[in-house]
Amino acid sequence: MVQENKKLTKGASAKGSEPKTTGHEWDGIKEYDNPDPFWLRIIFYVMLFFSLVYWILYPSFPSQQNDGFLSWSQYKEVEQDLAEIKALQENYLSDFNKASFEEILKDPKLLKFAIAGGKSAFNNNCAVCHGVGGGGQPGYPNLAAGMWLWGGKPDDIYTTLKHGIRANDDETRQSQMAAFGKDGILTNTQIDILVDFVIGLHNGQKGSDDANKLYQTHCASCHGVNGEGGREFGAPRLNTPIWLYGGDKETVRDVIYNGRQGVMPSWKDRLDDSTIRQLVIYVHQLGGGE
Ligand code: HEC
Ligand code: HEC
Repeated sequence: MVQENKKLTKGASAKGSEPKTTGHEWDGIKEYDNPDPFWLRIIFYVMLFFSLVYWILYPSFPSQQNDGFLSWSQYKEVEQDLAEIKALQENYLSDFNKASFEEILKDPKLLKFAIAGGKSAFNNNCAVCHGVGGGGQPGYPNLAAGMWLWGGKPDDIYTTLKHGIRANDDETRQSQMAAFGKDGILTNTQIDILVDFVIGLHNGQKGSDDANKLYQTHCASCHGVNGEGGREFGAPRLNTPIWLYGGDKETVRDVIYNGRQGVMPSWKDRLDDSTIRQLVIYVHQLGGGE
């Protein structure tokens, strides 16, 4: 406006005449007759019209009943969006719940759905013990390595999750490695021999006949004749470089002397069946699934 006025004044002085006035005058101040430009007026009326229409169609008074003629509200919009998302999820969920593990593994869409759900459930419930990505830590098995204590087929994993291991659950997986030293089954000397023998097994060595005899008598029934492990008992393999508890002499001695009873909680009362099945698929595809 300021610029407009300047231009007018300039134009007026160039012509040497005052611009037109409306004829109104107060204390010597005259009112110039400068109507607002036509385009501005058009915009003004258009806006006015628009706001009136808007006012009628949409909620404009601060009241809960007033939704305008279109009955639109942000809350309703959010509710609708949520309902749509839920319906989508339920579509997948009901397909997922009906499908067997085999079918899910073959169906890219269901697989993706299960992995996404399983991953978030894993991070919330399992990663504290098994690590993000299932990498494990001493005493908590690596779930991605294909070195299964109890089994890596979807049904095995399902049973493990549902009922736990040595957990407070009637159907939990159960086994006990005795405390061979503490309970006086073996002497300290025998245990020392077995410590070396077991560490040797992990490195691919056979050990002496005497040591092997001791092993076959007391340990092979669970850990296997060649240290290949025993899934009925959840007994770890002893003939690979991977350890559950640790491969230094002290740890191995402690395990044989005191036994070990690792506990994996039962999840049947904490997670619904569908979440457990999503977890099975997630764990299965971490790298070690069978
Ligand atoms: C409180 C710690 C803890 C939590 C939480 C936990 N686990 Fe475990 N989990 C263990 C331990 C310990 C073992 C090994 C038990 C044993 O020594 O046999 C195990 C074993 C397993 C096994 C068997 C591995 C095999 O080799 O057979 C699977 C599968 C498994 N956990 C998955 C899960 C999933 C999935 C969750 C989350 C729902 C979870 N765990 C939560 C401690 C835990
Ligand atoms: C009743 C079956 C059983 C017998 C017999 C048994 N173990 Fe075990 N052993 C297990 C189980 C089960 C575990 C895993 C414990 C756990 O998950 O907490 C285990 C774990 C171990 C581990 C830990 C392995 C690792 O990767 O950290 C060592 C070492 C071991 N046993 C050595 C022996 C030796 C040596 C003997 C014989 C004196 C023996 N075990 C006898 C069941 C058995």
